[in-house]
Amino acid sequence: MIDPADYALWNSGVPRPYLKALSSDDLLAESDGVRVRDSGGRWYLDGRSGLWNVTLGYGNTRVKEAIKQQVDKLPFANSYGYGRPAQVTVDCAEALVGHLPEGINHVRFASNGAQAVEMALQLSRFLRLRAGQPERMAVFAMWDGFHGQGPGAGMVTGVPYLHHQTGPMLPEVHHAPGPFSHGATPGVSDMERLIREFGPERVTAVIVEPVVGEGGHILSPEYLGSLGRFCREHDIHLIFDEVVTGMGRVGDFTRAGQLPDVTPDIITLGKGITSGYVPMSAVAIHDRLYEQLHERTTGDTALSVGSTNDGHAVAAAAALAVIGALTEDGVLENVRRREADLLAALGKLQAQHPELTGFRCLGLFCGLELGEPGGPSWSPGKVNKLRMALEARGVLSSSLRVVPNLMLMPPLVITEDDVAEIAGALDGALTDVKSGRLPESGFAKAMG
Ligand SMILES: Cc1ncc(COP(=O)(O)O)c(C=O)c1O
Repeated sequence: MIDPADYALWNSGVPRPYLKALSSDDLLAESDGVRVRDSGGRWYLDGRSGLWNVTLGYGNTRVKEAIKQQVDKLPFANSYGYGRPAQVTVDCAEALVGHLPEGINHVRFASNGAQAVEMALQLSRFLRLRAGQPERMAVFAMWDGFHGQGPGAGMVTGVPYLHHQTGPMLPEVHHAPGPFSHGATPGVSDMERLIREFGPERVTAVIVEPVVGEGGHILSPEYLGSLGRFCREHDIHLIFDEVVTGMGRVGDFTRAGQLPDVTPDIITLGKGITSGYVPMSAVAIHDRLYEQLHERTTGDTALSVGSTNDGHAVAAAAALAVIGALTEDGVLENVRRREADLLAALGKLQAQHPELTGFRCLGLFCGLELGEPGGPSWSPGKVNKLRMALEARGVLSSSLRVVPNLMLMPPLVITEDDVAEIAGALDGALTDVKSGRLPESGFAKAMG
């Protein structure tokens, strides 16, 4: 047993008391299907899929075997620059584009979501410079949107505290309220309005999550269709960040694939691309950008982005296996069925607990709003208490630091019984919070 005060693990994003309160018993030690066990011996149904990435649960044989075989065969090959990529990496890209919207036929793999987002932004700006448009550098993103952390990804993420915590970040980034934001103009796209006011000829790209992770706000097909037309009209690159929505979460390979009226120029993927078994992400681009990339570059001036492990052979083998699972093992159909179960269960819960003031699900991407009936929303701290009460009842979920919502992001392979178990635990946890019956652990208290 390690004294928590002495953990060597440096876990950013939380104050020290949290780590101190985390006893060795709280650490996760084992998994089985959609469940994880902590070192103290308690099993949990993982209603947040790790960090929204373990989409096939922890025991997918297809993915595990593919990883083992690739480690034996060829654990690494260099996909960067003039290296020779592994056969499996090339095969993975071919298989992936077969499930992306028409015209999006080129994939570059990266290692995490933030890197994919930064690569997409770099590609957009690079094409402007090559086209002799150095004045066209501005990027627009959405308040409350999440695109990762780091000097570029953290800057497009619409969470102000991230923009100032480490000094200067990526310049020329602007944010607009989303249609769900409190400050949104009714009946108007603030994104389009603000870009018009700013000058569309100075904007290189707009980046949005088609379902905004902080709260699970589903951007409507009409909103995104209009944004797509606006971007085409003004030659602005439209980037769909599908790090969460992609790879099955919404019941298809991408949200873009469900929207016939809009095709983005760039799609970023991550998280579920390998079901979280090994790190990987991807930047998929439309033919029209790919052509420009080559028209305007020579060997000396090619866009240089990437890092050592991009397109890693083991990750590519895992991603190929995930694609196999989504297409051949009925996972996408399961998402659609369980979405219906979850919506029905949440409807019933809402009738008993008016504090559940709203909920949104697209596939197995669910945001739950909480508040006093007819009164204010719960604070993030109170939502956190609900999360801990739910955890004490054996179900893991996510609460958000900025938006006071509880997120249910279960693995895409959950069963009807699993949904009933989540709903039963949530019923009990809502009652616990109302009656002030909260978990006793130091960990739960430090979270509050
Ligand atoms: C929509 C979205 N984009 C990008 C990222 C960043 O991904 P990563 O944490 O792998 O860098 C996240 C992470 O949660 C995300 O939700």
